Amino acid sequence: MIRITVKAWTRECGSWLAGLVVALLLIGTDAVVAKDTPIISGRDIFHPVFARHGMVSTQEVTATGIGVDILKKGGNAVDAAVAVGFALAVTLPRAGNIGGGGFMMVHIAASGKTVAIDYREMAPAGATGKMYLDSQGNVDKQRARFSYLSVGVPGTVAGMALALEKYGTMSLAEVMAPAIFLARNGITVTSQTAGALHRRQKRLSKHPATARIFLHSDGTALAAGEQLVQADLAESLTQIAEQGPDAFYRGEIARKIAASMSANGGLITMDDLKNYTAVERAPVHGSYRGYDIYSMPPPSSGGVHLIQLLNILEDYPIAFLGHNTADTIHLMTEAMKLAYADRSHYLGDPDFWKVPVAGLTSKAYAAKLREKISLRYATPSKSIKPGDPLPHESNETTHYSIMDSAGNVVSNTYTLNFSFGTGIVAAGTGILLNNEMDDFSAKPGVPNAFGLVGGEANAIEAHKRPLSSMTPTIVFRDGKASFATGSPGGSRIITTTLQLIMNVVDHEMNISAATAASRIHHQWLPDKLRVEAGISGDTLDLLSTMGHNIQIGNVMGSTQTVMRFDQGFFGAADPRRVGARAQGY
Ligand code: DON
Repeated sequence: MIRITVKAWTRECGSWLAGLVVALLLIGTDAVVAKDTPIISGRDIFHPVFARHGMVSTQEVTATGIGVDILKKGGNAVDAAVAVGFALAVTLPRAGNIGGGGFMMVHIAASGKTVAIDYREMAPAGATGKMYLDSQGNVDKQRARFSYLSVGVPGTVAGMALALEKYGTMSLAEVMAPAIFLARNGITVTSQTAGALHRRQKRLSKHPATARIFLHSDGTALAAGEQLVQADLAESLTQIAEQGPDAFYRGEIARKIAASMSANGGLITMDDLKNYTAVERAPVHGSYRGYDIYSMPPPSSGGVHLIQLLNILEDYPIAFLGHNTADTIHLMTEAMKLAYADRSHYLGDPDFWKVPVAGLTSKAYAAKLREKISLRYATPSKSIKPGDPLPHESNETTHYSIMDSAGNVVSNTYTLNFSFGTGIVAAGTGILLNNEMDDFSAKPGVPNAFGLVGGEANAIEAHKRPLSSMTPTIVFRDGKASFATGSPGGSRIITTTLQLIMNVVDHEMNISAATAASRIHHQWLPDKLRVEAGISGDTLDLLSTMGHNIQIGNVMGSTQTVMRFDQGFFGAADPRRVGARAQGY
C-alpha cells in the first residue's frame, strides 16, 4: 500500500529521486538496502542447485555430466568447457556444433585475467556484398539461409583448441574422449531432439548426408527413445583429437568440406579453412551498482549493448519500482529501443569497421540517451534514430557456464544459427554446417531472420565476421567472479542476459528465480514489446496505456548460470528448454 502510494506520488511529481527519499522515510532503509550476496530468500519458488567444488550448467544433461566428470578428474573450468563444447556437438545436434562458431569468455583466477575468445565464423574469400540479392535486387532468403552459400567458415574447432591450449591443463584427446564415445556408440534420442528433428524434417530430408544420420530410410525423423549413432562425426572428432585443429582446417575434414562446397555451389575452399583464425580479444567492461560486468566485444553486439542498457538503467530506482512492474518494464523497453537502434548503425566486425565501443559503453552517453526517455509514454520506434556516441576510438544457439574450485570461470555461447543450421552435413564428415552468413546485413534496412536490420557496418565482405548478439558474460563483485551467464535466442540474447543480471542485482533473486522470471524484449524494429506469459494483465494494460505495442509470444532464451559464494557454488539451468541441467560436485 505504502509502495503504491509512493509510486503514485512519484509519478505525480515526476521525480524518481524525491519518490525514493519519501519511500526511505516511510518504510525505513532495510527494505531497499541490497544484500551482499543474493542467496536463498524465503520468497523464491525456484532454488538453484548447490555444490561445494565446482558447477556446470548446460542445456543438455549428458554434456553437463561430462563437464562435472572433467572437474572431478582435476581438470579446470576451461578443460570442462572444451569437453562440453565437443560433447554438445553430439548430444544437442541442433545447436551444439563443430560446424558453427561462437564466443568464450574465460576468467583465470590465478592471474586475475579475463579474456574473450572470438571463434565466430568468417565469410569465405568469395563472399561479396550483393551475394544474396536476386535479379530484382531483393534478398533471396533461401540463398541466405538454407543453401551452401549460407555457410560461414566454421570457428568452433579453432576456438576450443585455442582455449584449451592457452588456458586448459588437459589434452584434446582427453577432453574429447566422451564426445567421441557418444558419437560412435550412440545416444538415446530425447523427446526434445525428436521434436526438433520432426519440426525440421523437411529441411533435413533435402540433404542425403544429413538424412542418413537423422532420419529413417522412409524419411521420417528419429523418434524419442531411438538410438542416434553418428559414425562419421565420431571419425571427424577422432581425427581432431589425434591431429589437432589442423585435421579440420587442413586435413581430411577440410578436403571433404571443400569438396561438398564445390559440388553444390558453395564458396568455402581449402584456403578459406586454412586461413580461419580464432582470436583472443579484450572483453568489454562496464559497471552496474557495484558489480563489474565483463562481456563479449564485437563482432558480437552483445557485450556493448548489455553494458549500454545497464548504464541507462542504473540511474533509475529499479529495485524500488519493482520486478516486472509497468514502470520497470517501460524503462527497460525504452532503453532497449535506443540500444538496438544504435546496434543497427554502429556494430560490425571490428577488423573491418570502427565500432565506437568506448562511446557506446560510456556512462556519459547513457546519460544523454536517458534524456530521450519519457517516464510516462512509449516513444514510437519510428521517431528513434541511432544516437551519437563519442567519436570512434583508435533459432538455435546454446550457452553454458562453468566454475571450478580454483575460481576459474567459463561462459560460452556457440551456435549453428538456426536449429541444425543450414541442415546440411558436409558429406562424409557427419558435421552439420551453420547458416551464420544470414547474420550479415544482406541489404541495408532489410531485416534478417531475427528481424534485425543493419547497414554498412555489417555488410558482407570477404573474410569478415557477421555481427552477433551472443552475450557470454561474467559478473564480478569486489574483484572476484560472482556469476557467469548467457543465453541463446537470436536478437533476444542481449535482453535475456540483461534481465538475468537485473533480477539478481536489482531484485535480489537467487539465480534460479532470476532465470525462471518472465521475460520481456524490444529490439527497436519492429516496434513491438514482446512479453512471455506470466506478466500480470493489469501491468500489460498499464503498458498499453503508455503506448506500448504488446505481443505475448513464446518463451525467450535459455540462460545457463553459475554463481560462486563463500560456501560453494550455485547453478541454475533454464526450465524453458527441457533437458537443461545444472550440476556440481
Ligand atoms: O549470433 C547470433 O546472434 C545468432 N546467430 C544467434 C542465433 C540464435 O541464438 C538462435 N537461437 N536460439
